Amino acid sequence: MRIDIISAVPDIMKSPLQESIMKRAQDKKVVEIHFHNLRDYGKGNYRQIDDTQYGGGAGMVMMVEPIDKCISQLQSERVYDEVIYMTPDGDTLNQKTCNHLSLKENIIILCGHYKGVDQRVRDLFVTREISIGDYVLSGGELGACVLVDAIVRLLPGVLNDETSALYDSFQDNLLAPPVYTKPEEYKGIKVPEILLSGNFPKIEEWRHEMSIKHTQEKRPDLFNE
Ligand code: ADE
Repeated sequence: MRIDIISAVPDIMKSPLQESIMKRAQDKKVVEIHFHNLRDYGKGNYRQIDDTQYGGGAGMVMMVEPIDKCISQLQSERVYDEVIYMTPDGDTLNQKTCNHLSLKENIIILCGHYKGVDQRVRDLFVTREISIGDYVLSGGELGACVLVDAIVRLLPGVLNDETSALYDSFQDNLLAPPVYTKPEEYKGIKVPEILLSGNFPKIEEWRHEMSIKHTQEKRPDLFNE
């Protein structure tokens, strides 16, 4: 998979996407992540990428031309399955969307900044708009990191234990069961007996029951999806 991220401040994303599991995924060539600085496509000597709003109002708007140049350049090099715009008024990200996007070959992620992008960027290029939650960030970069992390960890060969992503919370619309490691008892709280039993079918049954119980208690809305 190849992911191209377009941003006015790409450095924000470098540490989150170049460490730990994201680093391993790239080292193993499971994914290529490329950052593009919009300034490189800016207008004139000042490399301008934003301007004041037509109709008045506070805040700058990202201009269509630099974004067009960057996206068109990328699209002349390969076919993209999706051009995703990170924005608080997009569809709220969930596991189903991550699963779906993890099957794509090439995607572009565009990060908004300031007041957002000129509407014509959305009309002309964007195939999907994603929000990471009902709150406003100062730019789409942190949202892009969340999206990329959630997609890349699903790609085959990224997680050590191939099956572990299958047991994540939200796969099957259930929250994950509780997990324990050593010691067997800590401050009076014991690891549930069943986990020490070695009876793996029973353990699986218990985990499934706990998943259902947790979901009922914390996120009953997931049963209606
Ligand atoms: N940009 C600003 N706020 C955002 C959000 N909640 N999700 C995605 N991108 C954003």
